[in-house]
Amino acid sequence: VRGPLVDSYGRVHRDLRISVTDRCSLRCTYCMPESGMPWLPRDTMLTTPELVRLAGVAVSLGIEEVRLTGGEPLLRRDLVEVVAGIAALDPSPEISMTTNGVGLAKVAGALREAGMTRVNVSLDTLRRETFIELAKRDRLGDTLAGIEAAAHAGLTPVKINSVLMRGVNDHEAVDLLAFALEHGYEQRFIEQMPLDAQHQWDRSQMIVGEEILDRLRAAYELTPLPDEARGSAPAELFLVDGGPATVGVIASVTMPFCGTCDRVRLTADGQVRNCLFATGETDLRGPLRDGATDDELADLFRASIGAKLPGHAINDPTFLQPPRPMSRIGG
Ligand code: GTP
Ligand code: 5AD
Ligand code: SF4
Repeated sequence: VRGPLVDSYGRVHRDLRISVTDRCSLRCTYCMPESGMPWLPRDTMLTTPELVRLAGVAVSLGIEEVRLTGGEPLLRRDLVEVVAGIAALDPSPEISMTTNGVGLAKVAGALREAGMTRVNVSLDTLRRETFIELAKRDRLGDTLAGIEAAAHAGLTPVKINSVLMRGVNDHEAVDLLAFALEHGYEQRFIEQMPLDAQHQWDRSQMIVGEEILDRLRAAYELTPLPDEARGSAPAELFLVDGGPATVGVIASVTMPFCGTCDRVRLTADGQVRNCLFATGETDLRGPLRDGATDDELADLFRASIGAKLPGHAINDPTFLQPPRPMSRIGG
């Protein structure tokens, strides 16, 4: 055991988010242009054995949860093998995934059997026309089928992620929560962050956490849960109408949670990122392919965490968006 992974502010890192592909089946306006992106060249992407090996090094450093992200992780053809490989590590980390749900219905059972325990699914609207406007693809039915299949397969709790945008889907906050309550999903609303490839994020248009809560309070009584309920998770939790159901608000911009951050990220092309908003990265792919030992790779993970800043600087006047967009980080 080589861990724990502690940064210079005392934060212990237990959560690794691995982006398994930068490709996506949707084109959400807050993420990428309708025309798509210049995708990462295949030969720069980690193979499954490479990815599992790096996950193993991370686990030896005290990582307890591995979350698979994208782009859209379901577009990785051998995703079930990735999950099985990570599940076979010793100690075996918890394995989760953040997905848009398109195509999930077909593989939810196989993912559960391979060792995945839960999923978070992005769902920004319940209306077909709005879905098409927002995601540029007519796939609402696929997403809903994916969510239902995930719950059925036991990939629970199923969390629903919704980014609210003014004039697009902001009037759907109450409907989305009602839908989640009806089905037993955990609804979370997310403040839009400046990570879109088009650089169109506009603070004055952002639906902030307080506004989300105001909208929900028109229909529900919300009781804040103590911070302990939240731990290092990004969502601030509220009991809905006295509970036990909860709703979460992820207010990364107006109420940053960097002080309790326990996350480190690995991109599909083998770069370690110590923050969503990091401007620098640590290359693991090169050393890995040049024959580095596990100890050497562990040192690179440690070096990345050692250089981690106390938090993002979105609210500083000098803030610059990182060169790598959301779809190549994985959120
Ligand atoms: P849980 O473990 O289920 O709470 O997952 P999660 O909420 O951490 O992960 P998910 O991938 O569902 O992300 C939900 C939202 O939180 C997305 O908008 C992410 O970009 C954002 N998010 C996740 N981790 C971080 C983080 O470390 N910093 C910031 N600023 N946002 C994050
Ligand atoms: N700001 C906030 N959340 C975002 N997501 C994607 N882009 C952004 C953004 N710019 C969300 C997705 C998904 C999760 C990985 O991050 O909707 O739920
Ligand atoms: Fe951690 Fe960076 Fe997210 Fe803050 S913005 S919580 S430091 S990853």
